[in-house]
Amino acid sequence: MRKQIAAANWKMNLTVEQAITLLDEIVSKNIKLSENQEAVFGVPFPYLLLAKDRISDNKNYFVAAQNCYTKESGAFTGEVSAAMLSSLDIKYVIVGHSERREYFSEDNQTLSLKVDACLKNNLKPIFCCGESLEIREAGTQNDYVETQLKESLFHLDPSAIKDFVIAYEPIWAIGTGKTATADQAQEMHAHIRNVLEKKYGNEIAQSVSILYGGSVKANNAKEIFSKPDVDGGLVGGASLNATEFAEIIKSLKS
Ligand code: PGA
Repeated sequence: MRKQIAAANWKMNLTVEQAITLLDEIVSKNIKLSENQEAVFGVPFPYLLLAKDRISDNKNYFVAAQNCYTKESGAFTGEVSAAMLSSLDIKYVIVGHSERREYFSEDNQTLSLKVDACLKNNLKPIFCCGESLEIREAGTQNDYVETQLKESLFHLDPSAIKDFVIAYEPIWAIGTGKTATADQAQEMHAHIRNVLEKKYGNEIAQSVSILYGGSVKANNAKEIFSKPDVDGGLVGGASLNATEFAEIIKSLKS
């Protein structure tokens, strides 16, 4: 069975003391994960190592960076490379979050380079895609997401796509309290899997974990995650609260 993942995206939140308190609170709940389940903590760069240390006793708990640069090293003040993250033994990198696309002008081409940088350095990208409200209202969301996938991922070999992680995050549902219904999520996830199948075949398409993101909370996670093509969630706001995020982890399919 493909991986079921509850991934926290803290974004640019929390001081170091608050970060430690939150991680310790979640760890103290002692939630045991099965072989195919993972809890992932997408923390700001300065907290990567401490987060890794705090969760180290918990099986299948991992840390994610929220971004990386396309280049390996050099005169790029303020940037962090995939090679650096790899040297910290970080497992995941969130790539192409809609906030990066919107505020930092990251386009599909740039993101394809970031995905390459991650894979070259043995980091697993959590590749984000998803449409704006305008696109959803025009009814062209399927084509829009398909183009995002094609332009950023379809240069990859099948071996690189196997076990890949994609997060579908409709922009209109991020931080708005407005969740896609479980059926809307399932519909897009099935479309994404179908797009992958056309390019890479059924076996590989079935191995890809597709997370849903956008106002996932403790009280809606179970219903959304229960859908056959939804393999967990990428969680912003609710991941900043230990009780909420713990419930979300417990909502993963086993
Ligand atoms: P949200 O954010 O859960 O606060 O809507 C999700 C995300 O942006 O990853």
